[in-house]
Amino acid sequence: MFDVAVIGAGAAGMMCAAVAGQRGLRVVLIDHAERLAEKIRISGGGRCNFTNVGAGPANFLSDNPHFCRSALAGYTPQDFLALLRSHRIAWHEKHRGQLFCDDSSESIIEMLRAECGAGRVQWRMPCRVAEVGRNDAGYVLRTSQGEIRAGKLVVAAGGMAIPQLGATDFGLKLARQFGLKVIEPRPALVPLTFDPAQWRPFAELSGVALEVALSTGTGRARGEFLEDLLFTHRGLSGPAILQISSYWQPGQAIVLDLAAGRDLAGELIAAKPGNRQQLHTVLGGLWPRRLADQWLHAAEQAGQPGLAALRMADAPDKTLRALGQGIHEWRLVPSGTAGYKKAEVMRGGVDTRGLDQKSMQARQVPGLYFIGEAVDVTGWLGGYNFQWAWASGVACARAL
Ligand code: FDA
Repeated sequence: MFDVAVIGAGAAGMMCAAVAGQRGLRVVLIDHAERLAEKIRISGGGRCNFTNVGAGPANFLSDNPHFCRSALAGYTPQDFLALLRSHRIAWHEKHRGQLFCDDSSESIIEMLRAECGAGRVQWRMPCRVAEVGRNDAGYVLRTSQGEIRAGKLVVAAGGMAIPQLGATDFGLKLARQFGLKVIEPRPALVPLTFDPAQWRPFAELSGVALEVALSTGTGRARGEFLEDLLFTHRGLSGPAILQISSYWQPGQAIVLDLAAGRDLAGELIAAKPGNRQQLHTVLGGLWPRRLADQWLHAAEQAGQPGLAALRMADAPDKTLRALGQGIHEWRLVPSGTAGYKKAEVMRGGVDTRGLDQKSMQARQVPGLYFIGEAVDVTGWLGGYNFQWAWASGVACARAL
């Protein structure tokens, strides 16, 4: 008989088990995977972008946006850095507050394993949970390593992204079993796909990268980012697309400003007087040349013959303004996403309206807790998802 059983030994589950164990609780940590914490291992290109110094509620999506406040305030990026310092793990800031290990993500896994050791956490791994039941004394788990009984149950089974690494909908199924609502799960932080015929004119641009401003949605569901975009053979990728994908709804357009923070039409008009150069030469000097050539080629195909060869001095302001507007307001309707196989996270999950924001306990089911990605709190790209895993894990452990 344990005080607490934690299902899922990923970021949230290990953190929760360690803190609960160090508070003196008898904790068992269960995972069906052969290898420990694969998502931490592969994250951040093997260096784990373990937090973001600026992490706050505004960096998370949820049907209930204020839910994450309490846990995030209770365990901050600085708290995680203090833990790293105590394990002598070196780190660096890369870009926009994103913090990475100097060495390897293995050091985060080893740190969490050691913290679990300090809390005398017992491991059951690999161990499959076939059935979860509840009685007056708590929870009874029928597993591939026999029956496990615990007074309280923490579900830290993550989301469905990357099923090839053992991701499942276990957490969501368990939530439904106990009567909790689930916000429809969807792949997020995922490449967007485009209709091959629609994309053909741009397929040639594969490899072109530039910073863009992009947006989608309206009102509370609006996402807006300034990030790097990458053209690929099949569509668009890079951090800009991963970020916006979390906000994108099927059928909706995304709007890209391909010359963010500039007035490209104004720059072209200013370059006109006495200029004998052709438009494609001048645009190619102001913008990535391959993109300029392809953009003008596509405009010619769409009904503006001779545009690329237009002499600057002869180009009507109206034409240049229309060209600039098209570049600053490129509207595209993706055909879909690359799915859970390519997604970094799952959006949606256990509806937070059924959970207590301080403890992560199910309001209607005493002793049942949900933490980490299984919960309907999804972070932006850049270390936010791990910060949620640490913070929700610690909030839960302190309340157990
Ligand atoms: P996590 O997925 O870590 O752990 C869940 C655990 O539950 C797993 O060990 C799994 O085996 C186990 N489990 C599932 N079903 C089970 C069952 N039925 N029985 C028993 N165990 C079960 N985030 C970030 O902040 N910075 C980054 O750099 C990255 N990079 C990144 C790269 C890639 C390729 C991916 C796919 C994801 C990221 N992420 C990220 C996201 C981050 O990895 C993710 O949000 C956290 O790992 C979520 O932590 P959890 O503990 O909730 O789930």
